[in-house]
Amino acid sequence: MPIPISLAHTPTPLPILTSFLAPHQWYIDGFHLFDFFTDDLWSAVDPAWRAFVDAEAADKGADAWINVLVGVACGADVPSGWPSGLADVVKGAREVAFGREAEGDDVEDEEACRLAAMSRKKLHEVERMARVVRDVTRRHNVDAIIDVGAGTGYLTHTLAAQNPQLQLYALDSDVTRTHGSLTRGARILPSIHHQKKPAKPTSSSSPQLHHPPIKHITAYLTPTTLAEHCQNRENSLVLVGLHACGDLGGRTLLDTFAHCPAVKALVVSCCCYQRIALSNDPSDTHVGFPLSTALRDILAASTLKITHRGLAAASLTFASFKDRATIKHALRGHYHRALLQFLLAQIHPPPPTSTTTTTTTTTRVGSVPHTATTSFPLYAAAALHKLNIPLTPHIETLIATLATTTTTALARIAFLCTLRSTLGPALESLVIADRANRARECVDACGGGEVRVSNVFEYTKSPRNTVLVAEKGSELSF
Ligand SMILES: C[S@@+](CC[C@H](N)C(=O)[O-])C[C@H]1O[C@@H](n2cnc3c(N)ncnc32)[C@H](O)[C@@H]1O
Repeated sequence: MPIPISLAHTPTPLPILTSFLAPHQWYIDGFHLFDFFTDDLWSAVDPAWRAFVDAEAADKGADAWINVLVGVACGADVPSGWPSGLADVVKGAREVAFGREAEGDDVEDEEACRLAAMSRKKLHEVERMARVVRDVTRRHNVDAIIDVGAGTGYLTHTLAAQNPQLQLYALDSDVTRTHGSLTRGARILPSIHHQKKPAKPTSSSSPQLHHPPIKHITAYLTPTTLAEHCQNRENSLVLVGLHACGDLGGRTLLDTFAHCPAVKALVVSCCCYQRIALSNDPSDTHVGFPLSTALRDILAASTLKITHRGLAAASLTFASFKDRATIKHALRGHYHRALLQFLLAQIHPPPPTSTTTTTTTTTRVGSVPHTATTSFPLYAAAALHKLNIPLTPHIETLIATLATTTTTALARIAFLCTLRSTLGPALESLVIADRANRARECVDACGGGEVRVSNVFEYTKSPRNTVLVAEKGSELSF
């Protein structure tokens, strides 16, 4: 089966992404939705958009209006009649964000999942990632593969079975996962699974049935520690990471790729952008974003500052949320959380000497039982219980009053949340484009090579489907 990288695309140029995002700075990280009431966020929204939203909610009813928003969040055409500036934001965000399409031809049947001891999603990711890795290792004739953030070893064991001539390392900071990978190795039936689709031998010798034991290492990886692991080991190797979180899939892998001659290539899909280390100091080079000189130069001269990493990581428009009921539930959750914030401000008003204009607090409520999400009184009671705040008669009266808040507020919050989330894929694209540019700068500094960004997984099976491949070596034919 061909490696599904025919959809490799040229990342949207950084200046296009940044100049699109800059005017929407406030929507990206100017507020937290739970301050909707306490900070009167609505008053900061474009007056024409406010009038439009209120008219739509009054005309259609909040529920029907939210259905329209959910449709837009899921990729439907922007309905005619939306103010042109608003429609332009939604359409522009879609245009600058990377496409998510990928070829879809795999069928992860139940038997294959059982033999591999993986879910359909994981098997899909592992099989496609393994094809890309195999292609890269063949070109570079390396001695080893290091799987960073290997978790319980789904990818590692597959790579070991498919590349028996290579030494596999599984590195993860979590000892439970490293141990899980070890026991997984003893439990799974990789030979049976992979005999179904035997990998072609990479040398002229006959295929080996056994691979050297995987070396499991529990270690927290930073650019320094990962470089040490690489230098102390084989002569030439490939770094791989399947859904490498935060800085692991960014600065840690890319710095190691740049500075370790033994590392010939890397193949990584990234996730958890909210864990990227940021700094307000543009000269701080120990941060996870921006990484490329190209983006550093642009951001130093622009008004765009991105601190809302979560927006790149989790957006209503991602396919995992394409179930409309889940999105509507999430929107209602934001509404309840904003009402709760207002309630908390009534119970514990900010000190009168406070000079700040926002009431943003770090109060963390987290999730409440599903049964408590159907109404604000139930939600508030569950949240206050989590926060160890007793439900006094005074508070019960406040809750009852807030529960009568008009549904217009729900329609407004849903709008703000949807608008912000339409920018999420563009922000994620900026993070990925920055990493691709950094990889390009690395290979150029090493005398040449190839950098590709491809949609490897099918979006509907694994929405975080983009894989970055970087290879050193000008003499290679890619
Ligand atoms: C999203 S999971 C992916 C696991 C595995 N690659 C898979 O696809 O099943 C990310 C893994 O990276 C590990 N991890 C995150 N940051 C790390 C770091 N700095 N050093 C080592 N491991 C890390 C976590 O413990 C976790 O197991």
